[in-house]
Amino acid sequence: MFFRDRGAVLQLRFLEDIVHRVLKLLPPEEAHRAGLALLRLRAVRIGETPRRLRVRTVIGEVSPPVGLAAGFDKTGRHVSSLAALGFGFVVAGSATLQARKGNVKPRIVRKGPDGLVNAMGLPNPGVKVFADNLRREVARAGIPVVASIAGSEVRELVECYEALRGVVAGVEVNLSSPSLSGATRLWSPEFIRELVAELSTVRWAPIILKVPPLARAELRTQILRAIEIWAGGGMDAVTAVNTLPVEEPRLSTGFGGLSGRQLKPHMLETVRAASKILEGRCELFAVGGLFTAEDVTEAFEAGARAVQIYTALALHGPRVVRNIRNGLIKLLDEKGAENIEELFPG
Ligand SMILES: Cc1cc2nc3c(=O)[nH]c(=O)nc-3n(C[C@H](O)[C@H](O)[C@H](O)COP(=O)(O)O)c2cc1C
Repeated sequence: MFFRDRGAVLQLRFLEDIVHRVLKLLPPEEAHRAGLALLRLRAVRIGETPRRLRVRTVIGEVSPPVGLAAGFDKTGRHVSSLAALGFGFVVAGSATLQARKGNVKPRIVRKGPDGLVNAMGLPNPGVKVFADNLRREVARAGIPVVASIAGSEVRELVECYEALRGVVAGVEVNLSSPSLSGATRLWSPEFIRELVAELSTVRWAPIILKVPPLARAELRTQILRAIEIWAGGGMDAVTAVNTLPVEEPRLSTGFGGLSGRQLKPHMLETVRAASKILEGRCELFAVGGLFTAEDVTEAFEAGARAVQIYTALALHGPRVVRNIRNGLIKLLDEKGAENIEELFPG
């Protein structure tokens, strides 16, 4: 523990609580910006994670097997502050080839106590600036950092992948943001096959495909087929899932992607289906509606090797990471298991 003295720890938790309550009063995007600025002060650190929570993955050892999902740090400037919250890895981005301003505000709203709907429109500084930011941050982070890239042309995605050469431990390809138009083309076997072929020729780090939930009947078969092509082409991992497209009149776009509690059943369905197809050929990262150690355990049982969270951190603050970590240690003790890999050998 960073603050060894118990009194100091309680004081810190109290402060964390107050900050969290104040941030909750702000509109979500302003709260997010203020939260990131506060994190740079490095007041909250949860210290070393016990080796019992270590899991070996394609991006390296992660401990705990809980990472921050893409979208929280879209610029790559906050990776080391976020790492200090106790994550086992951080996914930064998504970055596109050219900088994007994103959609007009409001582009993110709260949905009940445990959900968000966003239509950010992939605002980011462009992959060159993103890579420069990450170059400064990765070593300071001290944990594996993954870069998320997005685009709707194979050529763009390959250029983004190349721009990050030597900078990160892995690259997550985001074809699943509701902001990317033309989902039917992006998830067609032809597009995925060409993407796999082109990325294979320049491969320098593990490549992870981020898929949407299987909820949309018209895309379901295509997504499952894409996962098969991805694994068959020798790629490294799959992350399931991105947000679920829903109508939302409070957003400037009138629709957005739902995240948080209500996404969990969709995530579990997608992870189970992907796990069946992959048969261990690719690793699986689960993301969507994970708030507690029990949720994370369900994701492991469904076939995930590690998990990512976003909405839980955004709505409930850094204590979520600490609680999940402590919950996983408690689970190991209850089951009499030495470590996570013994409990979920997957
Ligand atoms: C405001 C916001 C922005 C996001 N931006 C991205 C993004 O740029 N790239 C991406 O792959 N996923 C993005 N996501 C999706 C998350 O990474 C994650 O897949 C999703 O929110 C489900 O996890 P959760 O329920 O823990 O939030 C974003 C989510 C939110 C709420």
